[in-house]
Amino acid sequence: MGAIQDLLGPLSQQYSQLGLGSQIGVGFAAFLVVSVILNVLNQTLFKNSNEPPVVFHWFPVIGSTVTYGMDPPRFFKENREKYGDVFTFVLLGRKTTVCLGPAGNDFVLNGKIRDVNAEEIYTVLTTPVFGRDVVYDCPNAKLMEQKKFMKIALTTEAFRQYVPIISDEVTSYFKRTADFKGQSGEVSIPPKMAEITIFTASHALQGKAIREQFDESLAALYHDLDMGFSPINFTFHWAPLPWNNRRDHAQRTVAKLYMDTIKRRRANPEIDAQDMMFHLMNSTYKNGVQVPDHEIAHMMIALLMAGQHSSSSTSSWIMLLLASRPDIMEDLYQEQINALGPDLPPLQYEDLAKLPLHGAIIKETLRLHAPIHSIMRAVKQPLHVPGTKFVIPTNHVLMSAPGVSASDPVFFPKPDLWDPHRWLPDSPNAPTLARAQDEEEEEKIDYGYGLVSKGAASPYLPFGAGRHRCIGEQFANVQLQTIVAEVVRLFKFRNVDGSNKVIGTDYASLFSRPLEPAVIHWERREKA
Ligand code: HEM
Repeated sequence: MGAIQDLLGPLSQQYSQLGLGSQIGVGFAAFLVVSVILNVLNQTLFKNSNEPPVVFHWFPVIGSTVTYGMDPPRFFKENREKYGDVFTFVLLGRKTTVCLGPAGNDFVLNGKIRDVNAEEIYTVLTTPVFGRDVVYDCPNAKLMEQKKFMKIALTTEAFRQYVPIISDEVTSYFKRTADFKGQSGEVSIPPKMAEITIFTASHALQGKAIREQFDESLAALYHDLDMGFSPINFTFHWAPLPWNNRRDHAQRTVAKLYMDTIKRRRANPEIDAQDMMFHLMNSTYKNGVQVPDHEIAHMMIALLMAGQHSSSSTSSWIMLLLASRPDIMEDLYQEQINALGPDLPPLQYEDLAKLPLHGAIIKETLRLHAPIHSIMRAVKQPLHVPGTKFVIPTNHVLMSAPGVSASDPVFFPKPDLWDPHRWLPDSPNAPTLARAQDEEEEEKIDYGYGLVSKGAASPYLPFGAGRHRCIGEQFANVQLQTIVAEVVRLFKFRNVDGSNKVIGTDYASLFSRPLEPAVIHWERREKA
């Protein structure tokens, strides 16, 4: 005791002689050291063996936020090797338990409604962007009905109309865009694919009148809405920050534009329209209430936003991967000539089924570059993880990362190789599990918006599974295949330095996408 007093006495004397600024600095450093020590002791001495292992971290609250945020797939892979398929890490102060592998995907994504909940996690981000009463700003049963209404506009009949619309948008884009003037050139491709995606999706899903406004004001407003989806807004969604003010203004303006259009259309009824707005205008909830105009407007925003990020990032990856493998781009061109004839007639919806390599390009790109790397759920009651002794408490967030099983050598030989041919018959790199190859054989279930494959035990789930599964998969495939087919007809791509290198991934936003600038060399097949 005396020795401690001997030590602390002079220390406290020296401390009191410091200026206020230095005192605060020393105080903070001491606080930091103590909290690091307590945090480490807590992890080493007070492990709860009934809870999943916790990824070691020095700092409380920050935890593994930085290492996870820099490269989530690498973080999952490295910690899976240390801790197994189920482990917890601290993300922005919250204990987050990730469940990997096909069983983990199934556990999280097919979790029962009484056990797991998506809206509690996502509403802070999505409600200010989409608007109220839709998607995660309503009970899950209502979302299931909304998904059913939205799916009505995503039928084969609608897709037949969409293919020529998308084809025209792509060809006219390359005709009018300055960066593609002449016979060859270099261009950073992701911003171009973002424009092509929004033009094709808005025209197909929302009609010509809305599409025309994307040339003027709407694109900028959607950009402001987009800014609302930054990870920082999980915490600061409410703050009166400049980007949040712009987000709120954009939400009100876009919603009003849709509502005015709905009003005009109701005043002049149509009978044969096929577009999304028309279907939503004629939909009624099970309780007999017709879908209100503001909900239609908000669903229109939600659909375009949901599709834009994922399709824009996927199409950019496809173009970059084709530039890294010009031989595969040639295979695609030959596939079209062989299947459709050397004159390459205008694309029809039925043609897409005759182009399996085009389909495989999308499948394989999504295997390695799925835009959504982490899917989160709130835990509603303590959850026992099957096959383990772990129980996940309700103060944890549950996370699924299907990209991990999609790049696991157990299921995909040479998993890091982008090999579209692996999805075609007789490939040496074919997925080793029959189930990975053929979702059709999977168990199907209806959550209220039509039969969907349960995806249980599938290592390949880029469109998710369970009640929150994507309803845009078929549309995305039609859109992406048509874009790819048209680009392949017009251009040859290669990397600027002629190498096979592929650019890294940007994980800074919620959706993973290629780092920019991502420049490729393009050359027209025919004289401009
Ligand atoms: C849900 C992926 C395109 C609309 C999802 C989910 C994934 C996903 C993984 C599940 C999210 C979760 O469980 O929390 C993709 C990919 C796409 C794509 C990879 C393209 C390559 C689209 C398109 C649309 C769309 C084009 C609209 C036309 C939706 C909707 C949901 C959803 C409405 C439901 C959200 C929920 O129920 O919670 N998507 N998507 N997606 N997606 Fe997509």
